[in-house]
Amino acid sequence: MKSFREMLPSDVVLATASDEGQDAPLLDGEAETVLNASPKRQRSFALGRDCARRALGDLGLDVCAILSGPRGEPLWPQGVTGSITHRSGFWAAAVAPSSVCLAIGIDAELNHPLPAPLREKVVGEASLPTPLTGIHWEAVVFSAKEATFKARRPEQISLFDFLGIELSLDPRRQTFQARLNEAEAWPLRTISGVFATAGTLILTAALIPRPPP
Ligand SMILES: CC(C)(COP(=O)(O)OP(=O)(O)OC[C@H]1O[C@@H](n2cnc3c(N)ncnc32)[C@H](O)[C@@H]1OP(=O)(O)O)[C@@H](O)C(=O)NCCC(=O)NCCS
Repeated sequence: MKSFREMLPSDVVLATASDEGQDAPLLDGEAETVLNASPKRQRSFALGRDCARRALGDLGLDVCAILSGPRGEPLWPQGVTGSITHRSGFWAAAVAPSSVCLAIGIDAELNHPLPAPLREKVVGEASLPTPLTGIHWEAVVFSAKEATFKARRPEQISLFDFLGIELSLDPRRQTFQARLNEAEAWPLRTISGVFATAGTLILTAALIPRPPP
């Protein structure tokens, strides 16, 4: 069982939270995003923002509102990239200077079999690794594709299609490679990532490092 901290390089800063019944404040501009959402969603959004602010603080940035873009993506301060996930009483945000990473995507999903219609959309006819006790590969594929989705440019997102991503898993190394359609490739055609189980969750992270100059 691993944590995002152990899965990601040290120059990616992480903040996590688990549910202790706590709330978190929203800053100006953020509340509008979830104005019409349920109280549960508003709280979840706020706790994700709280993780993001703590992570940005550890990077040395001042407290700031993190608004959402038109496709739901968090809008990070200049010079920073990052990602947020929340699932079943767990929240996490990962941030890094843009000088280190072009993009990050993190995701947490329940380590459960997927409902048949979702499985069809996400896995299709692709073959999965040999069954292993304690891990549902289809949930890993789903989460890895979600992490890959979050690590991509928002303007490419309308092109996103779960089956359009060819995913290969390395169960021994706990890594994955997500191969994108040519039209969607930015700045790489293949995005690398890592996965792990953590309690009832599958955690995945996709990282696009800045290429050396
Ligand atoms: C957006 C999406 C990736 C969120 O993933 P999820 O597993 O449902 O939820 P998570 O808690 O892990 O992540 C939610 C966070 O992702 C981030 N996010 C949302 N949209 C995003 C985007 N377009 N890019 C990057 N990050 C995004 C947000 O920070 C969001 O939390 P917030 O709204 O509180 O800020 C997912 O709902 C989705 O839409 N996937 C793509 C599905 C798709 O395109 N299918 C088409 C083929 S069937």
